[in-house]
Amino acid sequence: MTAELLGPPIHAMLVLGTRPEAIKLAPVVRAMNASALFEPLVVTTGQHREMLHQMLDLFQACDRIELDVMRERQQLSALTARLIDGLGEVIREQQPDLVVVQGDTTTALAGALAAFYERVPVAHVEAGLRTGMPNNPFPEEINRRLIARVARWHFAPTARAAEHLQAEGVAESTIFTTGNTVIDNLLWVLSQGAGRNHFGTDLRHILLTLHRRENQGDTMCHMGSAIRRLADRGDVEIVVPLHKSPAVREALLPELTDHPNIRVVEPLDYMDFSATLAACDLVLTDSGGIQEEAPALGKPTLVLRTTTERPEAVEVGAAKLVGIEPDAIVDAAAALLDDHAAYKRMANAGNPFGDGHAGDRIVAQLAADFGPAPVKARVIPDPALTRRQHRTTPVGG
Ligand code: UD1
Ligand code: UDP
Repeated sequence: MTAELLGPPIHAMLVLGTRPEAIKLAPVVRAMNASALFEPLVVTTGQHREMLHQMLDLFQACDRIELDVMRERQQLSALTARLIDGLGEVIREQQPDLVVVQGDTTTALAGALAAFYERVPVAHVEAGLRTGMPNNPFPEEINRRLIARVARWHFAPTARAAEHLQAEGVAESTIFTTGNTVIDNLLWVLSQGAGRNHFGTDLRHILLTLHRRENQGDTMCHMGSAIRRLADRGDVEIVVPLHKSPAVREALLPELTDHPNIRVVEPLDYMDFSATLAACDLVLTDSGGIQEEAPALGKPTLVLRTTTERPEAVEVGAAKLVGIEPDAIVDAAAALLDDHAAYKRMANAGNPFGDGHAGDRIVAQLAADFGPAPVKARVIPDPALTRRQHRTTPVGG
């Protein structure tokens, strides 16, 4: 198609501030760059500093504006205020045709609100995840519910997420089930093959991450002591890429340092993290993204939380919701390490989070709704999804 036929480019502003947002929006940016229709502009808020910077290689080929909002031990209210103020100004200056936000972070909520105040439509990637509990995860459950009130496009990763949105009264014609973009990125990065696996022994490999705000303090200290007990078995090597949050470090470092079977490392860049995940036998985590990635690589996953907005992995048998009690954590890990059949069942359970084409589906849908009349969306069918969920009807149409 010639430039005249395509008309002016669609100016899409993608707002991201934390590690998982970068990972999960990178496939959307790649799909926009591959389409002649879009001119993506990435705005990094700096809600995370070091942990975001190590992800920015994912956006090498893209125009970028950087804000710098992070403060040591930032409070949610002050962070939110800085973000809305900064993002409002950038949106006024840049006048995008749409703003894309991802997930349920403070950056995502502030990006959606700032866009709404500037009367710019919002696309929400990874919409519809719910635990049904306002304080768990805190504050993410409320963030994502609020974003749903503002967004014009709701890109749900699974059929269940789409159902949550419908149950809240979101118009069906604005909900699109796409799969999760995290799978796109994982498959892409593994195909590059460049990462370094951080395990160093022939013992059984356990990968651990913990960071959730609702567990910080005593609960997280106790979880750390459970991990130490697990390491005392002597037949496991536990690698812990430690979140930069001072609250997480205060809780976990006293429990995890100076043990020969625990290796605490700084947050890994995405290439290395993916290689380390691919090399592990068992995952223990409270992370959202890792709950999605691990089943895609056949890694049994113990979710160290009391609830999850990703029940799909538990339902297919790839993950277990273990809770936060030390004995339960040690017992659940031991049960898998000591029972080969149970381990195999989890490892072979499969991945319910998508086929690696979520970014393409999202961009095809936006193109269909924004593009000049002759442009038709190229929607890639996923056999796991129903026909209705692939509809490409323009929003409001
Ligand atoms: C945020 C998200 C959470 C997501 C997580 C991903 C919110 C409310 N929560 O939580 O949903 O799962 O990111 O990791 O948005 N810090 C650094 N360096 C960094 C990153 C963070 O020092 O590179 C410090 C900050 O100063 C802050 C603390 O870590 O004091 C916590 O960061 P914050 O972004 O407020 O929340 P997270 O717990 O990371
Ligand atoms: N991750 C990473 N390096 C690490 C730990 C995690 O690149 O040291 C990636 C991981 O692959 C996943 C994402 O970070 O895609 C998850 O981020 P996090 O657990 O911080 O946030 P959540 O997903 O819980 O919001």
